[in-house]
Amino acid sequence: MQLMKGMMEVFLQLCVLLLVAAAESSHRKEYTDVAVIFTQQWPMTFCLEKHAHQEPCVIPDNVTFWTIHGLWPKNGEFCNASWPFNETKIKELVPLLKLYWPDLKGHGSEFWKYEWDKHGTCAGSLPEMNSEFKYFNKALELHHNQNLLKILSNMGIVPSLKNTYKFADIEMAFHKAFGVKPKVQCIKEKDQKQMLGQIEVCLNKSLLPIACEHSSTQAKSQSSNSNSTQKLIYLMTSPFHLCSNALPVVYPPISMRMP
Ligand SMILES: *[C@@H]1O[C@H](CO)[C@@H](O)[C@H](O)[C@H]1NC(C)=O
Ligand SMILES: *[C@@H]1O[C@H](CO)[C@@H](O)[C@H](O)[C@H]1NC(C)=O
Ligand SMILES: *[C@@H]1O[C@H](CO)[C@@H](O)[C@H](O)[C@H]1NC(C)=O
Ligand SMILES: *[C@@H]1O[C@H](CO)[C@@H](O)[C@H](O)[C@H]1NC(C)=O
Ligand SMILES: *[C@@H]1O[C@H](CO)[C@@H](O)[C@H](O)[C@H]1NC(C)=O
Repeated sequence: MQLMKGMMEVFLQLCVLLLVAAAESSHRKEYTDVAVIFTQQWPMTFCLEKHAHQEPCVIPDNVTFWTIHGLWPKNGEFCNASWPFNETKIKELVPLLKLYWPDLKGHGSEFWKYEWDKHGTCAGSLPEMNSEFKYFNKALELHHNQNLLKILSNMGIVPSLKNTYKFADIEMAFHKAFGVKPKVQCIKEKDQKQMLGQIEVCLNKSLLPIACEHSSTQAKSQSSNSNSTQKLIYLMTSPFHLCSNALPVVYPPISMRMP
């Protein structure tokens, strides 16, 4: 009897281990399915950060929404130097790009050229974006379909000078809209607050949202085994970091047009 009980326990433990392993491998599989990352930024946060460092930043007239930062295939960067950016090929899209994919730092089409050289030239393996026109058009289409302002306001999360939000509520709003958690990034503020900055939505080959590698749960285990030197390097290269559950989130209104 005692032996049976012991064997049963071992068996149950084995089952738990197998379940955990299965769950982990199915997650890992999902992450490897990420083909492209579509990134949007909140222009006010972006510009407040630039201004804090005395860098120019302008939010164009009529921009009252999240703007495109980029469409980033996962297979590499700067994939094809003999495929140069040519603005003529996207001239019909330029009025839309000026509105929805503006260069807030004021360099005009330089931003699109940079994103094309670094990321667009890597998109050739996906039929939906294997030309310059298709690449930029697809980004505009994704932006149209992923209205972050609306996703948040549907849950009562609107830009505000007075209110702050719980990060869990913001994450929940996106989770509801996309069926998976995107990567939500903030900028650390003084006085124990953080400012909502950027959303990366991970997409598979069908360009449908799937779980990102760096959801907030994963980030915890990651940060626990990364040392402070690594963290510092990361903070210096990007103003954005994963939003924390511990700090209230500020979602600043686009109150002023930058001079
Ligand atoms: C902003 O929108 C108004 C009204 O639709 C329009 O007349 C104006 O040309 C737009 N400005 C820019 C810079 O697109
Ligand atoms: C790079 O781009 C050129 C011009 O579009 C194209 O002919 C060539 O096949 C591309 N090379 C690769 C490796 O995709
Ligand atoms: C840019 O694209 C246009 C339209 O396809 C073409 O006529 C022109 O030669 C291209 N310019 C360069 C520098 O390749
Ligand atoms: C992309 O993800 C969606 C939603 O999970 C799924 O239905 C679809 O089959 C996936 N496509 C590919 C090519 O993996
Ligand atoms: C921390 O990370 C840096 C950069 O990756 C590395 O050079 C350093 O040796 C690491 N230190 C420790 C104590 O692991």
